[in-house]
Parts: sequence; structure tokens; C-alpha cells
Amino acid sequence: MSNKKYKIEEGLTFDDVLIIPQKSNINSREEIDLSSKLTKNIILNLPIISSPMDTVTEADMAIALARNGGLGIIHRFCSIEYQIKQVEKVKRAENYLITDPICINPETTLKELKDIIQNYEFQTFLVVDENKRLIGLISRRDYFLEDNDGVKVRFLMTPFEKLIVSYKKLNFEKAKEVFKKYKIEKIPIIDKDRKVKGLITLKDIKHSLNKKAVRDNKGRLIVGAAIGVRGDFIERAYELVKAGVDILCIDIAHGHLSKSILAIKKIKSKFPNITLIAGNVATEEGARDLRKAGVDVIKVGIGPGSACTTRIVTGVGIPQITAIFLAKKGAENIPIIADGGCKNYGDIAKALAAGANFVMLGSMVAGTDESPGEIFTIKNKKVKGFRGMSSSISYQNKSKILNELNNYTPIAEGISYGFIDYKGLVNEVLQNIEKALRSSFSYVGAKNLNEFHKRAKFIKVSALGFRENLPHDINYLD
Ligand code: XMP
Repeated sequence: MSNKKYKIEEGLTFDDVLIIPQKSNINSREEIDLSSKLTKNIILNLPIISSPMDTVTEADMAIALARNGGLGIIHRFCSIEYQIKQVEKVKRAENYLITDPICINPETTLKELKDIIQNYEFQTFLVVDENKRLIGLISRRDYFLEDNDGVKVRFLMTPFEKLIVSYKKLNFEKAKEVFKKYKIEKIPIIDKDRKVKGLITLKDIKHSLNKKAVRDNKGRLIVGAAIGVRGDFIERAYELVKAGVDILCIDIAHGHLSKSILAIKKIKSKFPNITLIAGNVATEEGARDLRKAGVDVIKVGIGPGSACTTRIVTGVGIPQITAIFLAKKGAENIPIIADGGCKNYGDIAKALAAGANFVMLGSMVAGTDESPGEIFTIKNKKVKGFRGMSSSISYQNKSKILNELNNYTPIAEGISYGFIDYKGLVNEVLQNIEKALRSSFSYVGAKNLNEFHKRAKFIKVSALGFRENLPHDINYLD
């Protein structure tokens, strides 16, 4: 056996380190810029990305992330159709001018309308006749007191004669004037034959005042979606790109794989304009190989995740702070996402301080109203389900849905039936993360992420030092 084998490197994780405070010229935490560049066209205003896990990110989570300046990656543990629906829901969530509003037929029943509503973020629809001419508009106030699900939209809608419409496109200011003058919430845009050309909604006008949100060049919220490297992944990628996804993410447990390098090359050659994230890796070589294969962003983390048992089951992994250091070297000028292991706001700051450009969160944003799944009560506590995507239960689903596993089912590397305390709206979590990061940057005297990367230094913490980190010697409630 060579001596090399006995030379064991040290690996550090979040709780092993603290960021050293430094002299700061920051006057107000508000002046700190938390933006981070994903690609030359996509800049996040908050460097947070939600995990592509089926208990974390579907459309509602992705919408909340984009509105708060971050990004959601829709998970892939579902049919292509289901994943597309989630992407479309995000893409339709806001829009200054909706150029292709959803139109329905007047013969639609209230029950059918309620089913349609499930697929969207909104509850108002234009009603058109068989010649696609506008004949009315139906919104929540027209039907929410109606008990009979069989009644047809024709009898519930506000008819054309009572609508305020515009025969030409309106700019932002003009639309605001019309909303104010008529106290309405929707302005259908039609041509002289009453054919629908668009829809402007008051809600969208309000949303567009939110400067923090990350939007594409059409004013729609941005969204990412995960794919694998086997089975139908090219078809999935094709459908996602067609549905308007901004970012694809090759999301596999071990990303330093010949198959994943081939997949990166294939996706990049078929969809040259799409931003591609790939992972996961935790070494310099892993990051370097993905960079050389042409990926835009590298996802880092083997085994730190809260629902992850990889390190226990396989004995493989690298503590996350060290993994970020190593991957950063191999990634060179390509951004990296630190994926997994953040338990509190300070860990996010530590991941960024170690060199990450973004931090991916699973458990910290799970258990919220926007995470998929029901709220239930266990021992008088409200909780939501949370599970690892390499757990045995998710393998069972994968083999049914994705047809990826052939005859070989690998050992599970994740928790199947976990729970997370119910936290309410994810907005609050994200706003606290933002405030905490502003404070972290301020302690280091950094006005932006670039300065944070340059200035931040760590000190290693002893076991007793770690004990001192936690609240101690007092009684407290939360
Ligand atoms: P946190 O700690 O934020 O981590 O909840 C989220 C990340 O965990 C990874 N993940 C897994 N890793 N087995 C694993 O080894 C699993 O079953 C599993 N499920 C999720 C994933 O990278 C996610 O973003």
C-alpha cells in the first residue's frame, strides 16, 4: 500500500467554522447588494435556489422564490406532462401583458371551470364564442357564491357589454389610469372583430412594482427544471424548453460520471441557448470535468443534505465547506451552487463565504405553504412530509414514472418518511434569509458578493467553541 493512502486530508463543514468579523464601512444593511450572476442574462437578486425535491419545489415554491429574487428548480420525479404544467404555471403567474390569455367556452360548467383553475395561479378567464370573439369574462366574484357546480359559465360571466375593454395595447401608465378610473381589475385587449389580443390585470401591474423579482425578457418569472441523464431525459428537456423553462438542471446524486458528461454535451448541443446546471460533485476534478464538458453552473454537495444517508450507507462524501473550496478551484470562473446541509441562516453565509455563488436549500424552505404536500398534525404539532430523492420510496416512484432504473434498484440513500415542522409562508423564511445575509456581509465589511468572497475568512471552531455558538445558560421558548 502506498503512503499516499495514509495521508488523510481534513474536511470541514458548517459547524466547524465561523466567519471572522472585520472592520466595516457599511452604514446601513440596506445598501448591501445580494445579487449573484447565474449567467450573463440571468442575475438573481437573492442567491437562493430551492431544491428539485418532490417535497420542496413545484410551481408555488418556484413562484415565491422568483418573486423574492431567487430561483426554484421544479423536481423531475413526475411525468413530463406534470413537470411541464408546473413550468407553465410559473410562466403564467405574472406578465405585464398576457398575449395568450386562457379563454374558455361559455358552455363550460362551473365544475369544469374549477378543474381548470387548479392548473393556474389565477382565477379569471376570458369567455369566447366559437369564432373566438370575446363574449364575457368570468372571475371569482362571479361564481364563488354559486353552489350549483353544473351551471354553465354563460350564466355566471360578466357579459361583454358590461366590460371595459381596449382596442389597442396600453402602456403601463395608461393601463394604471384605466384601472384607477373604472375601478376594475382586468382589461381585455381585443381587435375590431372582438378577437382576443391580450389581457392586462391589476394584479400584474402590482407585481411588476416588485423590483426584487427575477424575470425573463418577456416579464415572466424565471424557473428552472430538473432532468436526469437516462431514459427520457432528452425528450423531457425538449418539452421543458418548449414550455419556456429558463434553466435546466441535471440533478443526479453522483455527477462526476461519464454518462453525465455525455449528457451535458448532448443538452448543450441540442439546446445551446439554455442555461445548464449540473451536479453533484464535491471535488476539484469533478468540477473541472463538468466545466470542461460545457456546463454553465456546477452544483456541489455529496451527502450533506438533511434527508440524505449517502455518507452513512456508502461511506462516501466530503464535508460541505471543504467540498465548496475544492469545487470552486475546479470550477474556476464558472458559478457554483452549494447544495445541501444548511440548517440555519448562518450556514448560508458560510457557504457563500467559502466561495459559493448560490446556495440550494431543501429542508429550510420545506414545511411551508408553498412546498408540495398536505399539512398534518403529529403529537399536536403541525408538520409537512419531507423525503430524500434517493430514498426507497422515491426509487419505487422513479421506477414507475421515469422508467430509469431498469432491473437494478440501488440501495436507498435517503430518508423516506421525514417530517418538517410547518412554517407558514415561505416568504417569511426568504425575507429572514435576506436580512441575515445582509448582516453577515456587514460583519465582514462587504457591499456585495464579490467583496464577500474576497474578504471573508474563517476560523476553525473547537467543540467547546461550538457549544458557545448556541444559546446557553438561559431558558427560552423557541
Ligand atoms: P437540505 O439539507 O437543504 O439538502 O435539505 C437538500 C439537498 O439534499 C440532496 N438530497 C439527497 N441527497 N440522498 C442524498 O444523498 C437523498 O435521498 C437526497 N434527497 C435530496 C439534494 O442535493 C438536495 O438539493
